[in-house]
Amino acid sequence: MKYAKMKLNKVWYMKTVVITGSARGLGLEMAKVFRKNNLNVVISDLNLDKLKLAKQELEKIDSNSNVDIYTCDVTKSNDITNLINFTKEKFNNIDIWINNAGVNQPEKPIWELTEREIDLVLDVDLKGAIIGSKLVMEEMIKQKSGAIYNIEGYGSNDAKMLGLSIYGTSKRAITYFTEALAKEADERKTNVIVGKLSPGIMITDFITNALGDKEKINLSEKTKKVYNILGDYPDVVANFLVNGMLKNTKNNAKIEWLTTRKAVWRFMTAGFNKRDFFK
Ligand SMILES: NC(=O)c1ccc[n+]([C@@H]2O[C@H](COP(=O)([O-])OP(=O)(O)OC[C@H]3O[C@@H](n4cnc5c(N)ncnc54)[C@H](O)[C@@H]3O)[C@@H](O)[C@H]2O)c1
Repeated sequence: MKYAKMKLNKVWYMKTVVITGSARGLGLEMAKVFRKNNLNVVISDLNLDKLKLAKQELEKIDSNSNVDIYTCDVTKSNDITNLINFTKEKFNNIDIWINNAGVNQPEKPIWELTEREIDLVLDVDLKGAIIGSKLVMEEMIKQKSGAIYNIEGYGSNDAKMLGLSIYGTSKRAITYFTEALAKEADERKTNVIVGKLSPGIMITDFITNALGDKEKINLSEKTKKVYNILGDYPDVVANFLVNGMLKNTKNNAKIEWLTTRKAVWRFMTAGFNKRDFFK
């Protein structure tokens, strides 16, 4: 409440957040927490019907803020420009922009993936976030304020595993890209901050669906075991990440849910803490 509203020239100013790929999963859960904190929320995704359902969920939350929806395919720069313009028209400012849209890859080695499959993962997970950042940065520079966040994932820390190499390539690049953007934002004194959100492992549709639900991923018993130890539902992670963003004023911040320390603790206590997300 304190964060979201500032008195500007005797007019209450309510902050606005835009989240891509937010009809479900982490994006939708983050939108809920922002709304609880009285920020205006614009959710966007590929499918209008799913966005309408998500809007209904968000409107059940007691809040002084507004919710709006806008279809946007992050692989199309025109869609991103339209989403920016729509938000500016509705709310004047974009205070926080989160490049959250993502697709998982089929569980195959690199040489068994088709070129189209490789393109889709890179276009959504990497290029979508790069173009989103570029276009919203131009707006935020004009505003002289704003914060841009990108989502890290498997591979960001250089981990490698069969079946996640192209996704990991994009997330490793997202980490580099976000740090590079933060450096440039700083050197050009843009007054815009840029940061990384690291959500760990979340029990969402993402982990069992590849290429935007076009293909199923059958998790092995070993993978399920690891997810049961390290994973969390997205509402828990969203609560942590949004509170981190609301507090953050620093450029180049990393807001990390599953720290190495937490992961080690989870493995040490796994025997006492039996969870089964897959029953
Ligand atoms: N689930 C995990 O374990 C996990 C772990 C680390 C990072 N992440 C990252 O978190 C983010 C959210 O993941 P999630 O688990 O909520 O996944 P999700 O599949 O539940 O949600 C992703 C959303 O992105 C949308 N999307 C896909 N392609 C799009 C496009 N071209 N344009 C716009 N929207 C598009 C989907 O429709 C979907 O609503 C992703 O960036 C993902 O890489 C997920």
